[in-house]
Amino acid sequence: MIPEHVVIDDKSGLMTPNTGRYRKRLSELRGLFQDAQVLEAEIRTKGDPVVYEVIEYKKGGSDLFFGTTAILPGKVNGEYYMTRGHFHKRRDMGEVYYTRNGAGILLLESPDGETSVIEMRPGTCAFIAPNWAHRSINIGAESLVFVWVCSVDAGHDYGQIVRTGMRKIVVEREGKVAVLDNPGVVP
Ligand code: F6R
Ligand code: ZN
Repeated sequence: MIPEHVVIDDKSGLMTPNTGRYRKRLSELRGLFQDAQVLEAEIRTKGDPVVYEVIEYKKGGSDLFFGTTAILPGKVNGEYYMTRGHFHKRRDMGEVYYTRNGAGILLLESPDGETSVIEMRPGTCAFIAPNWAHRSINIGAESLVFVWVCSVDAGHDYGQIVRTGMRKIVVEREGKVAVLDNPGVVP
């Protein structure tokens, strides 16, 4: 292996070169938002918009990989666009999220239900401690772009979050951003 570099456009999250990318559209995020009816209406009327894009740079044989996530601005009945959220398969492995553009919230949750909220602003570098589930949420009018770095072995475990949701939701209430208890999660 040899040292290399990429160039990242902070506004869009475009990373050049890269080794892979994927997009998630609203229709692929059914079950994530509180209001399933409005979600279906948004899919129909807005042509199934992209919610977020992930671009990665991974070299075979390396211990680390990194990439960008860009979450577009948007809401589903007041609930801001977000990522699915996950634990790492390897619970002993953490991650770094370095925000480059926009405004967001990094929602974290431990297996015993403790929650933590970190504001994401350009320049914020968040340490996601091992064994904390993490979801990022765009609360601004621009794309929320962050660079992430973790071990190639960390993996994703979406199961628990898909089944139970996270304990907090992030919504707009009376023109303000509010972090509320998720009514669907029994304390
Ligand atoms: C990797 C990581 C990020 C997320 C990405 C999309 O461990 O935390 O690359 O995978 O922001 O979020 P999810 O995977 O939760 O849909
Ligand atoms: Zn992660």
